[in-house]
Amino acid sequence: MNYPFWNVPHIGSGWVIGLIAIFHVMISHFAVGGGLYLPLAERKALREGRRDWMEVLRGHSKFFLILTGVFGAVSGVGIWFAIGLAHPEATSTLIHNFVFGWAIEWVFFMIELSTAAVYYYTWGRVSNELHIKIGYVYAAASILTLVIINGILTFMLTPGDSWLEVAGTGQEASRFWQAFFNPTYWPSLFLRAGVCVSLAGIWALVTCSRIDGVAQPRLKTDLVRWSVKWLVPSFVALPFLLLWYLWQVPESQRALLQLGMQTIGAGAFTQVTRVALLIMLTSATIVGVVYLFAWRSPATFPFSHALAVLLLGLVATASGEYSREMLRKPYVVGRHMFSNGVRKSEVEKFNREGYLTSSPWIATNSTALERGQAMFRGQCGACHTTDAYRSMKTLLAGRDREAVGNLLKILHDYKPDSPYRAFMPPLVGTTNEIQALGDYLAALVAPPAREQAAR
Ligand code: HEC
Repeated sequence: MNYPFWNVPHIGSGWVIGLIAIFHVMISHFAVGGGLYLPLAERKALREGRRDWMEVLRGHSKFFLILTGVFGAVSGVGIWFAIGLAHPEATSTLIHNFVFGWAIEWVFFMIELSTAAVYYYTWGRVSNELHIKIGYVYAAASILTLVIINGILTFMLTPGDSWLEVAGTGQEASRFWQAFFNPTYWPSLFLRAGVCVSLAGIWALVTCSRIDGVAQPRLKTDLVRWSVKWLVPSFVALPFLLLWYLWQVPESQRALLQLGMQTIGAGAFTQVTRVALLIMLTSATIVGVVYLFAWRSPATFPFSHALAVLLLGLVATASGEYSREMLRKPYVVGRHMFSNGVRKSEVEKFNREGYLTSSPWIATNSTALERGQAMFRGQCGACHTTDAYRSMKTLLAGRDREAVGNLLKILHDYKPDSPYRAFMPPLVGTTNEIQALGDYLAALVAPPAREQAAR
C-alpha cells in the first residue's frame, strides 16, 4: 500500500475510468476511421464532380473537428487523471515501461489535432489536391496514435513471457519491443481498426441522415449508401478477429470467459456471458437497422434511426471494453500485477511482513477497524464498494463473523482449485491483518448493536 486510496462512493474508482473510457473509445475510434472517410469521400466527390457532396463533407468535418478535438482530447486526458488516481501502481508500471511510447504518441497526437483544424479551415482556400493531402496527413497521424496506444493497452492483458521474465528486476525497458508487440497486439490492432472503420460509417450516417431527402434525394441516397459500405467489411471480419484475439489470451485468463459460458442459464457467474451476448445482439441489430432503413430506403433515412444506430454502437463498444476488462481479472497487468496493485511476486513478502506495515497511509496507533478498512480499500476496493457496485453488504449478506473468516481464508490460501482464482487476487497480509479485515467486513454486514442504536 504505497499510495493513498481513491474512494469513489457507490460506483468505485474503476467505473470512473470505465465511463470516461467508453465515451473516449467511441470518439477516438471515430477520430481514426473518420480521418480516412473524409479525404476518401472528398476524392470521390472531386472525381465525379459532385459539388453537392463537398458541402456535406465540409459540415461533417466541422462536426468531426469539434467532437474529436474537444471531447475526444479532453476525455483522453481524463483517462490519464482517472487511471493515475485509481491505479497509481499500475500507471507507474506503464510509465516506466512505455514513457517513450507515450512521448511518440503525443507527437502524433499534436499532428492529428493540428491537421484536423487545418483541414477544416482550408476548405476552398487551397487547391483540392493539397486539401486532400492534408486529410491524408491527418489520417496517417491518427492511425499511428492507434498503432502506438494499442501496444500499451494490449500489454496490460498479455505482457508476454519475454517481458514477464524480467518484470520486477529493473530491466523491464530492455524488453520494450517484446512488451509492445505482445501476443494480442496484432489481433487487437485489426479489431480496433475494424471498429474505427465502422464507427466512421456510423457517425457519417448521423450527418447524412440530416440531409433533406425530399429536396436532394440523389445526394442523400448516394451519401447514405456510400457510408453504409463502411460498415460492411468490419462487420464481416469482426467475429473472426475476435476469435483470433481470444486465441492469444493465455488459458488462465480465458478461464473467466469459459466459466461464464459453461454456466450459461445456470444463473451462476454469467456476467461475462451476458455481456458477450449483448455484443452479438447489438451488432446484429445494427446490421439489421442499417440494411433495412439506410440501404433499402436511403432517401428517407431519418436522423432518429441514425441516433439509434449510434446508441447501439455505444452499447456494443461499452460491452466490448467491459469484457476486455473482465478478461484481465484478477490482473491489471496480466500475470504480473493484480487489479489491486499487489504484484504476484510480492505475495509472500506481504504475508510474512504484513501488508500495512510499511504503509504511510495508516497511523501507528490505528484501531483494528481502521486497519480493516485500510485492508479493504487497498485489496478489495479496486473491484468492490461497501454498499453499491459489487457491494460487500450484498455479497456478504447473511454471513456471520465466522463465515466471513472462512471466506477470507479461502481468498488467502488461494488454492489451485479455488473458484475465486479466476476473478479475485489472493488476499495478502499477516493473520492479524486478515483478522482486522474480517472484523471490518463483519461489522459492515451486521453493524454492532451499539452503532445501530445510534442511527
Ligand atoms: C480483481 C477484482 C476483485 C478484487 C480485487 C476482489 N474481488 Fe471479490 N469479487 C470479484 C468479482 C468479479 C466477484 C463476482 C461478483 C458477482 O458475482 O457479482 C467477486 C465476488 C466476491 C464475493 C462473493 C463471493 C461469494 O462466493 O459469495 C465476496 C464475498 C468477495 N468478492 C469479497 C472480496 C474481498 C473481501 C476482497 C478483498 C480481499 C475482494 N473480494 C477482492 C472481484 C474482485
